Order: sequence, then C-alpha cells, then structure tokens
Amino acid sequence: MEYNPTYNPYSLRGKVVLVTGASSGIGRATAIECSRLGATVVITARNENRLRETFDMLSGDSNQMILCNLADDEAINKLVEEVPHLDGLVNNAGYQEYLPVPFIKKDKLEAIMSVNTIAPIALLQKLLRAKKITKGASIVFTSSLAGLGINAPGNSMYAATKGAISAFVTGAAIDLAPKKIRVNAVCPGMVNTAIMDYGTVGEEELKADAANYPLGRYGEPEDIAYAIIYLLSDASSWVTATNLVIDGGVSAR
Ligand SMILES: NC(=O)c1ccc[n+]([C@@H]2O[C@H](COP(=O)([O-])OP(=O)(O)OC[C@H]3O[C@@H](n4cnc5c(N)ncnc54)[C@H](OP(=O)(O)O)[C@@H]3O)[C@@H](O)[C@H]2O)c1
Repeated sequence: MEYNPTYNPYSLRGKVVLVTGASSGIGRATAIECSRLGATVVITARNENRLRETFDMLSGDSNQMILCNLADDEAINKLVEEVPHLDGLVNNAGYQEYLPVPFIKKDKLEAIMSVNTIAPIALLQKLLRAKKITKGASIVFTSSLAGLGINAPGNSMYAATKGAISAFVTGAAIDLAPKKIRVNAVCPGMVNTAIMDYGTVGEEELKADAANYPLGRYGEPEDIAYAIIYLLSDASSWVTATNLVIDGGVSAR
C-alpha cells in the first residue's frame, strides 16, 4: 500500500473534548495539542488571563473557554450546563501540597481532596446524568506516580488524592463499559510545570533529582499531552481501566 500522509489513527478530528486545568502546564499543552489534531476543545480553569492565553493558542474556530472553580459544586453544575456533548473529558485540574503527616490538618486535607479527587469524579457523574457524554467517549484523569504508591517525603496527602483517582478509574471503567465509554488515567512522574512552585525543594536538588531519571530529565507537558491524546483517540479503543505510567523510567529504579 502506498504511503498516505493523511493517515492518522491518533487523529481527534470531529471530537469535542473538555480539558480542565487548561490555564497552564499539562492541561494547556493537552488542549493545544488536541486542537492541533482536529478536536474542538472546551477549556476551563479559574484564572481568566491565563485561560485566555491558552485559548488564543488553540487551532480551529469552534473552541470555547469557561471559567470554573472546581472546588465549588454549584460552579461545576453551571459548567455541566454550559458544555456541549463531549467525546472526550480530560479531568486534569489539580494542585500539590507537601505536608509531613504530623502537620496534616483536616481543612487542608478536605481542600485538596475537593479539587483533586471529588471534583473530577463529580464532574464525570454530573456530565453522565446530564447526558453530555457520548457513546464511545473517552475519559482521561491525570493521576500521578504518587497515586500508584511511588512516593516522596511530605507527599502522602497529595498521594492519597491521586490514589483515590487511580482506583476510581478501574471501577468507573467497568461501570461505563456497556456504554462503550472508556476510563483511564495517566500517571506522570515529575513534569516541568507551575506545580513545581508548590514545593520547598531548591533548584539544585531538583536538577539532581531530574538527573536520576533514567532518561536524564523531568517530563515536559507535551510528554503527558501526547499520552492523553492516545487515550482520547480511537487508536486506544480497546484500552480501558488503565493507569498509564509516563515517567522517563524513574519508577523502574
Ligand atoms: N507537574 C507534575 O510534576 C505532575 C506530576 C504528576 C501529576 N500531575 C498532575 O497534573 C495535573 C496538572 O498539573 P500541572 O503540573 O499542569 O500543574 P499547573 O501548571 O499548576 O496546572 C494546574 C491546573 O489546575 C487548575 N486548577 C487548580 N485548582 C483549580 C480549581 N480549584 N478549579 C479549577 N481549576 C483549578 C489550574 O488553573 P487555575 O489556577 O487557573 O484555576 C491549572 O490550570 C494535576 O492534577 C497534577 O496533580 C502533575
């Protein structure tokens, strides 16, 4: 067969994809790359200026941006009302907070659980109830290596929020399989994004840690975006209930 330059099983042409946490980092890269591969993208986050920056970088002219604080259940309801029917949902918004166990406080735990764990599950549940998720859709969560029990000092609270997500996707995948809706997660190692600013680790220490990665560097947001795109595309139509590790090999050390 002759080489066909337009053949692309990873194309997102004709798909409508909602990306949360699209105002920076992994979410921004995912939204941009999805749009470049033909998807119509709906992006959401809280910061209007940064979200608009992402919006201005998208390809295509049917994209939408919607401001939403995912810690607020009413705001999630409004988001669900405003979004069109979706072929893809990237439940990516989240934040990091390092706290050694003796310093964990209930309010901190509730706050991080509400954004990293409860909001993405609630968003999926509400979208399903509103019949906004199409048959054959793909749902992708951004979990973390920490969610798989590969951890670092002070990271237990964050790990708990992601561990819940990594477990959730396997159960949700079984529940939604009859509708041919697939549910997966990506589990990144350290990726160069604004989330690094939440830590207390110095630049030299980060450099040394990155050098310890078998591939010699931390990830870039696009490294994760391309994996998310695989999971959104029809190329992964037999993939569900998977926690896909993308970590430069560090978990093998
Ligand atoms: N970078 C890493 O090393 C790494 C590794 C493993 C997993 N992850 C996960 O990857 C995901 C993306 O993180 P990132 O590294 O790209 O960090 P980032 O650059 O800080 O992006 C986080 C995104 O989440 C949004 N967000 C945070 N709180 C929100 C809220 N209450 N409501 C709505 N949106 C909210 C932020 O937008 P606004 O501030 O505009 O609301 C931002 O767009 C997170 O779930 C994170 O846990 C990251």
